Amino acid sequence: MIPLTLAEIAALTGGTLVPADTGALVTGPVVIDSRRATDGALFAALPGEHADGHDYAPAAVAAGAAGVLAARPVPGVPAVVVPDVTVALGALARAVLARLPAAAVTGITGSSGKTSTKDLTAQLVEHLGPTIAPEGSFNNEIGLPLTVLRADAATRFLVLEMSARGIGHIAALCEIAPPRIGAVLNVGRAHAGEFGSLDAVAKAKGELPEALPAGGVAVLNADDPRVVAMAARTAARVVTFGVRDTSAAVRAEDIRLDDLGRASFRLLMHDVAAPVTLRLHGAHHVPNALAAAAIAGELGMGTPAVAAALNAATARSKRRMELHERPDGVLVVNDSYNANPDSARAAIEALRHLAQGGRRGFAVLGHMAELGDIADDSHAEIGRLAAQAGVAGLIAVGEEALPVLMGARAETGWHGTAIAAPDALGAVAALDNLLQPGDVVLVKASKSAGLWEVADRLLAEGAP
Ligand SMILES: Nc1ncnc2c1ncn2[C@@H]1O[C@H](COP(=O)(O)OP(=O)(O)OP(=O)(O)O)[C@@H](O)[C@H]1O
Ligand SMILES: [Mg+2]
Repeated sequence: MIPLTLAEIAALTGGTLVPADTGALVTGPVVIDSRRATDGALFAALPGEHADGHDYAPAAVAAGAAGVLAARPVPGVPAVVVPDVTVALGALARAVLARLPAAAVTGITGSSGKTSTKDLTAQLVEHLGPTIAPEGSFNNEIGLPLTVLRADAATRFLVLEMSARGIGHIAALCEIAPPRIGAVLNVGRAHAGEFGSLDAVAKAKGELPEALPAGGVAVLNADDPRVVAMAARTAARVVTFGVRDTSAAVRAEDIRLDDLGRASFRLLMHDVAAPVTLRLHGAHHVPNALAAAAIAGELGMGTPAVAAALNAATARSKRRMELHERPDGVLVVNDSYNANPDSARAAIEALRHLAQGGRRGFAVLGHMAELGDIADDSHAEIGRLAAQAGVAGLIAVGEEALPVLMGARAETGWHGTAIAAPDALGAVAALDNLLQPGDVVLVKASKSAGLWEVADRLLAEGAP
């Protein structure tokens, strides 16, 4: 972060300094968890689900924080008092960014693959200069400004993940951090309950290309008609990427998957070809890699350098298609971070591939949240896909996931085992009776289902 006095922060956020004569200097980081406060930190007091950040302000200051950003004065604590701490965080981030003209901002959005693509992109542009990218999935009105506020005078690139749960959300994030490059990965059914239709999702994601300036670059997925149509909604130059569309500017040819589902392909960009072998599992990471390549290409990286960096890039964020082989040869695919109908389809496709070499495939599927009216049908469809993929066993965890089993049973010709488990422990118990050495088991659900416990226990059981 660039050093700012608490008085400057008050001026930039329209807040009131309490006490008015404090000369406190904030050198960063900006934190929302008092346990992460260090010398010179700014603690932003946010209302939480279970606690009020203001109660932790004294602890943050005791841990070294120079002051707090708060909605009301906290006795004995130097503070900038603002009407809305989240809004003030955004205003502060925007003001800090305005002082860093050398930092090029890239925004990445889409229904699936934002974090994966952000992590890949960061691992490319880090070769070009100092880069700031969020940890994990810091992609909303709190996580994005916290990420921006990590930038300082040395920062050359900011690679930001932008999420939307409604219309106007991405436009607001683009106000905080005006992007020069904006990538839209796909328009899918994540948060269908809130959006209502794919067209509404497209409207929301299209706010990113809309926010780009004339000198900017919109990186659009040529394989997704709703994404490529966003070319009409931007003043920026359009660069397309695609796996299927052979007219895309950045594309992959001769895609092959190894026995662990890692893709090799020929990257074509700027009329130059270079071989790539990803370390990530699943064919769905190919478009993510192409989006990352397109962004890095626009930031000045040549095709061979992009390919070399993609070859070296690892999965930085946890529980997304993580593969672990137990000593008994059971392969556990931990994709329990999150799920929506599109990422579940991608995971089942990967499972089908992993089970090709003689392994038997099992899928443990939990609730996919926030799907509204399409929830039951979407779960049934994933069950049907799993049956079509020929899984030996399908375990639905929790009541909301039961339609998965109905979908699978409706697939004539499927003779696998279908089990309803009440919870994660029930799923593990069922698997204990089913799994044999060499089997592969996929674990996938929305975060709220907490199915990483299944993956964690399976791996702990297999430990020597
Ligand atoms: N292009 C893609 N198409 C379909 N599924 C994908 C794609 N990229 C990643 N996934 C899968 O989607 C899940 C979430 O991936 P990731 O965290 O990268 O997405 P995200 O868009 O950041 O999600 P969130 O909205 O939760 O932040 C993982 O299971 C991952 O394997
Ligand atoms: Mg994410």
